[in-house]
Amino acid sequence: MAHQPEACQPGILKKDGGAGLFLVLNAGSKNGISRKIAGISAITETVSAIDAAAGLSCVVAFGAAMWSAIGNGTHPKELRPFKKVSGRKHAAPATGGDILLHINSTRHDLNFELARALLKHLGPAVTVIEEVHGFSYMDSRDMTGFIDGTANPKGAAERRAAALIGAEDPAFAGGSYVLTQRYVHNLAAWEKLSVHEQEMRIGRTKKESVELSETVKPPTAHISRVEIKQNGRELKIVRHSMPYGQARGDAGLFFIAYARGLGIFESMLASMFGAAGDGQYDHLMDFSQPVTGSFFFAPSLKMLAAIR
Ligand code: HEM
Repeated sequence: MAHQPEACQPGILKKDGGAGLFLVLNAGSKNGISRKIAGISAITETVSAIDAAAGLSCVVAFGAAMWSAIGNGTHPKELRPFKKVSGRKHAAPATGGDILLHINSTRHDLNFELARALLKHLGPAVTVIEEVHGFSYMDSRDMTGFIDGTANPKGAAERRAAALIGAEDPAFAGGSYVLTQRYVHNLAAWEKLSVHEQEMRIGRTKKESVELSETVKPPTAHISRVEIKQNGRELKIVRHSMPYGQARGDAGLFFIAYARGLGIFESMLASMFGAAGDGQYDHLMDFSQPVTGSFFFAPSLKMLAAIR
């Protein structure tokens, strides 16, 4: 019989519904909260049953310090706290977080119902340090007006290969590393650029998301900075980012992505923020600023159920 890969939390590989709710929590007593973790899946199932067609999911993931308290002395090879990334012009701050709840479905009301039920269950031992309600905007566009997700790995096999830990760390197979960052866009300044100037900053055409040719695409375009090769192969991540915001106030992108290692994210961020040593940075960052940043580890379903 073929070896079955360890099952991951379903929200990691699925195609997103258009409504997201992201919660980053700190736990006062990390040991104390661990016995409540197992209850999260049952609560998600109960709320999900209200409308199965809405495809409600909740990925649960943990920061490095939290995992040290609940992981029975075991630690995923690459799990470490997010460190501030600084370049000459821009920086990406590190803001921590013990628990990430990544909720997604087609319905904002179900997401909200689940978030409230989970926070009630976890009780006063957790503090909410970030709550962001995301939505799908137009035809899957970021608020810059560009389609977000074009080069995301498609299909279960490609997404598994990009997002899930495998034989390189067998005790944690089926788990995944997560990067979250909330970006605030300077839309007023962005909208003053011509479409051509915007396209040179993204590296794709605005209307159809066609990649600019190598002769036209600058090395400072966003997609030039995040295309990172290792041994001749491009490193892949699975993105589930969503626009969020207020009509008059902060608006931008809640960036969230899954990968089989944290080093991939560190390389992409170093390249974006001008810390990769080639003197270049991502010129999209002149128009958007990250205000939070954290790394998490999302254990496999089996490992999540075993946390006591
Ligand atoms: C302000 C924040 C960001 C915005 C508005 C943004 C937007 C976009 C857009 C419009 C694309 C092109 C279409 C697509 O392939 O999805 C793209 C591609 C991509 N982005 Fe971002 N992004 C942001 C932050 C990030 C961050 C923080 C990372 C990684 C740490 C990242 C990684 C990628 C990758 C890997 C691709 C695909 C590149 C390729 O293979 O063509 N992005 N992004």
